[in-house]
Amino acid sequence: MTRRDDDGADDAIERRVAATLDALTLEERVGQLVQTPNLDPDDAEHRAALRSGAVGSMIVASGATAGSVRDAGVRRARIDACKALALEAPHRIGLLAARDVVHGHRSVWPIPLGIAATWDESLAADCAALAAEEATADGIDWTFAPMLDVVDDPRWGRTAESLGESPRLAERMGAALVRGFQSSGRMAATAKHYVGYGLARGGRDYAAASVGEITLRNVHLRPFRAAIDAGVHAVMAAFTAVDGVPMHTHRRLLREVLKEEWGFDGVVVADWDGVRELVAHGVAADERDAVRLAIEAGVDVDMASGLYARHLADLVRDGLVEAALVDDAARRVLRLKARLGLLGAADGMRDAPRADRGRTTHDRDLVRRAAVASMAVVADDGTLPVAASARVLLAGPFVDEGSAVLGTWVLDGEGADVVPPSEAFRAAIAEAGGELVVHDMRFVDDLLRTARECDVAVAIVGEHPRRSGEDSSVTDLGLPAGQLEALQALAATGTPVVAVVLTGRPLTLAPVLELASTVLVAWHPGTEAGVAIADVVLGRAEATGRLPMAFPWSVGQVPLTSSEAPTGRPQDVDDVRASRYQDAPATPRLPFGAGGADAAVAYRSATASTSTLTIATDDAVVVRVEVENVGDRACTELVRLHLRDLVADVTRPTAELLDWCHLHLEPGERGVAEMTIRASAFGYTGRDLTWRVDPGDVDLLVAPGRADAARIPLLLR
Ligand code: NOJ
Repeated sequence: MTRRDDDGADDAIERRVAATLDALTLEERVGQLVQTPNLDPDDAEHRAALRSGAVGSMIVASGATAGSVRDAGVRRARIDACKALALEAPHRIGLLAARDVVHGHRSVWPIPLGIAATWDESLAADCAALAAEEATADGIDWTFAPMLDVVDDPRWGRTAESLGESPRLAERMGAALVRGFQSSGRMAATAKHYVGYGLARGGRDYAAASVGEITLRNVHLRPFRAAIDAGVHAVMAAFTAVDGVPMHTHRRLLREVLKEEWGFDGVVVADWDGVRELVAHGVAADERDAVRLAIEAGVDVDMASGLYARHLADLVRDGLVEAALVDDAARRVLRLKARLGLLGAADGMRDAPRADRGRTTHDRDLVRRAAVASMAVVADDGTLPVAASARVLLAGPFVDEGSAVLGTWVLDGEGADVVPPSEAFRAAIAEAGGELVVHDMRFVDDLLRTARECDVAVAIVGEHPRRSGEDSSVTDLGLPAGQLEALQALAATGTPVVAVVLTGRPLTLAPVLELASTVLVAWHPGTEAGVAIADVVLGRAEATGRLPMAFPWSVGQVPLTSSEAPTGRPQDVDDVRASRYQDAPATPRLPFGAGGADAAVAYRSATASTSTLTIATDDAVVVRVEVENVGDRACTELVRLHLRDLVADVTRPTAELLDWCHLHLEPGERGVAEMTIRASAFGYTGRDLTWRVDPGDVDLLVAPGRADAARIPLLLR
């Protein structure tokens, strides 16, 4: 696999890496594999470790679940001091400073699930590039993002960090994030968590996953492969065990598939204490044994446990671990450092980028656009947009919030930077001559009296970010206690209700969809949350987001996606024996892709440039989909193309996402979406675990789920 176009530069890097590695002792090689939390330049032990080359990287984090517990914030001077100490070690190898820069650094954009809802790769890449620029200005050169776990169980708190249920969407949005994070050449991204973590049993964080290699390859491994093709520098092992084998010792998937089969030459980093956890998993006899298992499986860098530092050199000396494994791991770390310009006397310490970098209007605008583009209108009876000249009630626990709209995994963004929804609405409504009444919903009896006097009630409800993210799994997917009752009482006043739902996961919104005139799924939108919500509700901007994950009727339905594999007893056949529930539908309340006013557009035609594709020459078909805006407002339609392989070696999804594009249409305008699909796009992994493209019939499905959806049959030969 060629990772870079510039082979000459690659050769130079390899030569430099080899020369450096040659010069290192066993202890120094192991040192490159050690990642220590929060090195303190004033701590004598840390200073000694840095000066002796016993540490290769540091992680700046509050602890094992850094996304849920904030630290004091990153401090450039402290990082610089640690990097300077590392350069006092004999070989002047730069120290890597890592931090979880997940959806923004100072400027916070929507949570990853919200970014996936934009379906906009260039917007995602721009956001990631901004985060990287801000973080590198603070001395950070390695982020642990993007998270590429494909998820179908919203009970899992880390759904918020995911790109949703579709491997295709995760592939493309994930690759875009990688490109953005790494665009300056000064920051490494990490594809995490390799692999299967999104299948944690019962949606319980850290729980085991049961999945076979065929499904891993056809679903869960795909976004990782795409990230590697996009040049991602690092991959993080997952906490979870897959089919009985904890990922930190999964030699088959780490060493054989990722490193050997795919040719990944970057760094595999453990998750926090993941090496030590092999003991708790019950597969390592003790900590020393855990080190042996992890290095053999292909874990290069030991995050936080300190066990590589304690045992690895001895294991080599005792003949229990091959020295070549340590060399390979150290070579990977040195290669990463070389790629980032941290290897060698001249550049082991970079010039200080603008450490004083503040947020600019450009940053605010980008983050605001991302927030608007992530929001999905999943129901609207025409109440949207709300006239700014009306008497508007803005209610709910988020109305005056700053930090609670930022979302999980915000380590350096500040609530104080957020214009709260109440302020954003007040400014816009005052300008238009309307009236705004703000109510935090604490006294619902008082709220009702106010609601009766208003033309419309905008209720911002949903999850606090602390209910989502790591270690935040739940068994109830409803709104937090009390909110539904408040909405029901509000709706009973007869005043139309616009429900704006902030959430880190799909929720069971059926009752909200019953009572509200409009439902806007807004995720946790980030720094520009208040302004972006006002933009959308007051009609200053169009919410173009579409759900990257199905929203269930009830928690009893999960796990659930909109494109399940078929069963022998399909749901769409009217048969008493269909795969279904007695007491609920088997399909979601809101499907994957939902959002936007369905009735505003009509699909007029779908044509293909050919009906036959030759596999050997990887022929392409051009699909043209004509869509008309039949509403009275300009709108943006997301035109989706899905695929169904009718006869395959293994079961294939009923409607797998293949491609998409946005069409902006003025009222009455017809536009054509054009998508080019190659024969290889119909490939998959079969029973023999190899990738194949079968001759035979396939269907392309245009906008599945709509009444005017179309099917395009194709023959592969
Ligand atoms: C544990 C999390 O699982 C991982 O995603 C994160 O990057 C590390 N902690 C470091 O904070």
